[in-house]
Amino acid sequence: MDEMLDRPTHAGARGQRPPLIVPSVLTADFARLGADCEAFEAAGADRIQWDVMDGNFVPNLTFGPDVIAACRRSCAIPFEAHLQCVRPEELLPRYVEAGCELVLVHPETLRQPHHTYGRIRELGARTGVALSPATPLQLVEHALDRIDVLLVLTVNPGFGGQAYLASMEPKIAAARALIDRSGYDIELEVDGGIGPDTVAGAAAAGADTFVAGTALWRYPSFAQGIADLRAQAHAAGRRPHAL
Ligand code: DX5
Repeated sequence: MDEMLDRPTHAGARGQRPPLIVPSVLTADFARLGADCEAFEAAGADRIQWDVMDGNFVPNLTFGPDVIAACRRSCAIPFEAHLQCVRPEELLPRYVEAGCELVLVHPETLRQPHHTYGRIRELGARTGVALSPATPLQLVEHALDRIDVLLVLTVNPGFGGQAYLASMEPKIAAARALIDRSGYDIELEVDGGIGPDTVAGAAAAGADTFVAGTALWRYPSFAQGIADLRAQAHAAGRRPHAL
């Protein structure tokens, strides 16, 4: 079984990956989620993030799998579910069936984190691990063979529109070094307060994938916002991104 869970490494190709821009629909008008998914796709987004909050792990309450499944019909770009829930294990199949190709979980919410990382792949999705600001990077260092995306949160989970924590940049840099040393093809995603004034700092620290919510609504158009964030991440990035 373990052999099936291991993914090949693509360390050579990793440096050529363009920066990915992932809009979060947390700050969308929930009455027009499908239309916003369609608009983000047309604007050049690489995928869409769903912040799944349970009113328990975080104080906010958001998207069930049926909402996501309904919006899945509105666009073709990938969906990711960022599960901010206690005991998310039972929910995993529902979010994969709803059309999420990547499922991100917080290790501190899991009874057996290593098992759950493998379980997400068994369900046919990619595995993401999200680290809250106070959660140490060391929690994932012995599970890199089971992880496709490592998310370093640059705000405390729960709400959009919070200020970017520049104090997370050393953690992003340490995550970059850990991934590079491992030889595994793991995306390094950042989320929280990413916008025109902060994306370069996160990119310079080593992130290659950028979730943005509030900031995208402040540009004249989603297309301009996505293009600007991608260009800034490309210019500031440590690695020779392809564009
Ligand atoms: C926190 C959320 C936010 C959100 C992005 O739980 O994960 O980080 O998606 O929102 P902004 O870009 O507004 O911080």
